[in-house]
Amino acid sequence: MSISVRDGNFDVVVVAGPNVNVWPSPGMRSLTSLCAEMGLSVGVYGGNSLQVRGVIPVSSTGGVVIVEDAQKRIHRIHARAVVRVSAGQQLPDPFPGSRSEAFLPLATARRLLPLSSVLWSPATIILGSGNAAFRFGVQLLEKGVSDVICMEPLSQWGGKFFSAWEVERRCFEMAGGKLIEATPVSLSRKSLQQWEFRARDRQGVRIFDVARVVAAGPFDSLDGDDGIREYPPASMLFEVEQRGRESRSESSRSWSLDEERARRLAVRLIKGLCPDLGALGEKREKLEEALRRSRARLKRFARHREEPFIPAYEGKWMASADLRKLRAFSGVPRLEQNIRPVASIECIEEIGCNLCEIACPESAIDIARGKGRFLDESKCTGCGICLDACPSSTPILMHERENHSTSLVTLAWRGVHLWKAGETAVLVNRRGDSLGSARIKSVDTPVGVTGKKQFLQIEVPTHLIWEARSVKRPRPPADADEDLKFAIQSEKATGGARAEVTVNGEPRFVQNGVLLTQALFEAGRSRPEDSLFCSDGSCNLCQVTVDGAKKLACRTEVHKGMSVELQPVESARSESDLLCPCMNVKKADILERMRTAKLQSPDAVAEVTRVGEGMCHGQLCMGSFRRLLAQEGVDVSNWIDWRFPWSEWVLRP
Ligand code: SF4
Ligand code: SF4
Ligand code: FES
Repeated sequence: MSISVRDGNFDVVVVAGPNVNVWPSPGMRSLTSLCAEMGLSVGVYGGNSLQVRGVIPVSSTGGVVIVEDAQKRIHRIHARAVVRVSAGQQLPDPFPGSRSEAFLPLATARRLLPLSSVLWSPATIILGSGNAAFRFGVQLLEKGVSDVICMEPLSQWGGKFFSAWEVERRCFEMAGGKLIEATPVSLSRKSLQQWEFRARDRQGVRIFDVARVVAAGPFDSLDGDDGIREYPPASMLFEVEQRGRESRSESSRSWSLDEERARRLAVRLIKGLCPDLGALGEKREKLEEALRRSRARLKRFARHREEPFIPAYEGKWMASADLRKLRAFSGVPRLEQNIRPVASIECIEEIGCNLCEIACPESAIDIARGKGRFLDESKCTGCGICLDACPSSTPILMHERENHSTSLVTLAWRGVHLWKAGETAVLVNRRGDSLGSARIKSVDTPVGVTGKKQFLQIEVPTHLIWEARSVKRPRPPADADEDLKFAIQSEKATGGARAEVTVNGEPRFVQNGVLLTQALFEAGRSRPEDSLFCSDGSCNLCQVTVDGAKKLACRTEVHKGMSVELQPVESARSESDLLCPCMNVKKADILERMRTAKLQSPDAVAEVTRVGEGMCHGQLCMGSFRRLLAQEGVDVSNWIDWRFPWSEWVLRP
């Protein structure tokens, strides 16, 4: 066996850690360009053609990055500073049933939602109350699932008991979702596709009949955590937690945060690595300016948590003090709405988003909150482009016709139902309560907008124009029917072809031509291992035997007559207190080892217990492990898990 090894040297090397699916991320682009501009040599490794096998920290500063290229050659890259980008953790602490097949991480639930006829009714619980949780909830509600509940398991958000933007919560509640605070207790099977979920709130234990529980998070308070760790101090080894997971419009807050944090880190790297900062001349001022702006923006992004706007209600009506506050907000029109349709942008919290500002062709929006007006209503032409740009459906167009019994509201509709002009709709307020009937006056499908988005112009009783912010259908069909209808539709869309296969010796009919993981979910035969349904087979957990050969279920398509043998699930894996199911490590074992050996550092505990060394590379357990250590008083704020390797270390001949 001969191994070709090549050596390289860089000042800064940026590498993608396990399961980072957007690469290079917008944040890392900003970091590398700023570093390169200041004269540092920068290497970026990750993705399919240059797979990072691991990082070996060196004792002084920096480390050696081991990379394998497409020709299977090994590259040994020496770096004065290493930045590893890691995917944010999305799973809560284990509870009885949290390793069952009804429990899905959000990434898997997202992949299954458009693909298949997996049932989500009678109810789906989403654990977490971040923007991603609410947006997934809205998607489920639009698909026809009658009961979608976002459950916030942490009480540390304080006065604001959810972590998302208020406009996202508004969107979710208008679509019919519910938000509660409770801690998961257990998830147990009732029938093939029905589960009983128990959660404890202030009144006691509540029981829900559910089809799925989706873990969306966040499960950590972000207080004091800027998502950048350096460990050990002054080692120039950094870990950046990437929180953005989808496109910019889907995850604008996360990507903005990532970019600002990356700029701050770039400044730190430049100051640490440039021998003579004075020699940078004018560039140095630029650097300081970049740092100042990043700090200010990050502070602004955090402000919506410190100064939340959570309106109170008196019955169905927003409490008068809060309505006054909303109407006094500078994104809301004062006069022009009485004359013609203009935008009303009720986005009162200080959030890290400016998509509507970027989109407005008239420059009528200026999100320098607190400094001048958010909306310049005299410039607004009522074109509606901001309605399309906002991911939270916050802007509307309003024309308040004071001497008429009805006024006009235009809103962006993203639901499954396609409205027609003349239809009657039920008006709902900002938290989803029905207010009365309204008529859809006209429906526009905006030019250049793909998907099902419609602009609905609605005739609203004038006295409701400041309350009504969405519509729903008058009599929604029975929920189960809606789900069934969707299942039939998706079957039609896939040609409806069914294939007879054998699963562990039993004949089954499943959808033909889909991925085996998806077919197992649809048939109610998925395993906890399938829940990490990844896009590239990197977790290696969903191994099955297909026609006698070992395959990954997430990479194998169903075909007629195939014989599938599922690996028996070890009974220990379904136990409730397993913190690291791959390595069969229980929470109690960790606590015991910590106590008996008086372990003080995360490295020591990880080494002794071997948590995170399993096939999933810590995807399932490292979040809970960190939280457990923090509860036990171990400082994990700067700890980076540099254990080698991140993926199977196989040197091919
Ligand atoms: S309606 Fe058009 S002009 Fe008015 S704020 Fe929105 S994008 Fe700008
Ligand atoms: S696009 Fe504008 S209105 Fe929508 S969330 Fe962002 S800042 Fe608020
Ligand atoms: S659960 Fe897979 S490594 Fe711990």
